[in-house]
Parts: sequence; C-alpha cells; structure tokens
Amino acid sequence: MAKIAFITPDGESVVVNNAEGNLMEIATYNEVEGIDASCGGVCSCGTCHVRVNPNWIDRLGDKTEAEIDMLDFQPGADERSRLCCQIEIGSNHDGLILEVDPL
Ligand code: FES
Repeated sequence: MAKIAFITPDGESVVVNNAEGNLMEIATYNEVEGIDASCGGVCSCGTCHVRVNPNWIDRLGDKTEAEIDMLDFQPGADERSRLCCQIEIGSNHDGLILEVDPL
C-alpha cells in the first residue's frame, strides 16, 4: 500500500492513504474531481488523464501502445501524461503525486 496525492484542476490536494490496485479505481472511489473514467478503464476515453510528477515518470512502468494512442487524442498531453486506468499502484509507489488534467 502507498500514500499518494492527486492535485485537482482547482488546486485541491486529495491524499489517499493505503492506496493499492488500479489508479483509476482509487481515484473514482475517492471521488477525485476531474477523473470521470467514462469508459470504465478500457483505455478508450482519456477522461482519466493525469500528469505525473517528474520524479515519478520512470517509476510507473512503460505505456502500452493503446495508452500512447489514446494520449495522442488528449489536448495538451505531454511527456508527463498518463492514463490512470493503465497504472497499478503498490507499496513501491508511496509518495506518488499526480496532477489531474482539466477536462
Ligand atoms: S478510464 Fe477511460 S481511458 Fe482511462
């Protein structure tokens, strides 16, 4: 389990203690503003777009081709962009900080 933080588009910090499992599910369970997850986690909507703190980019694993393709459709996506439905959180992610993309 890990302690992680989401920074919402309004600048609110949502801290989740004991996070584990799919990052999109963690976000929606904790009602993080800006994570709509319209497709339910099948990498086809882009409404779970977050930007990863630069210190964490290399620690979240590689993007799949599907994730890369979906991010190509996201306005303003950059090298820090990830889709949280494609990330699994474990104890090695303690301290992770994510910025939620404005929809
Ligand atoms: S929930 Fe739809 S792309 Fe992540």
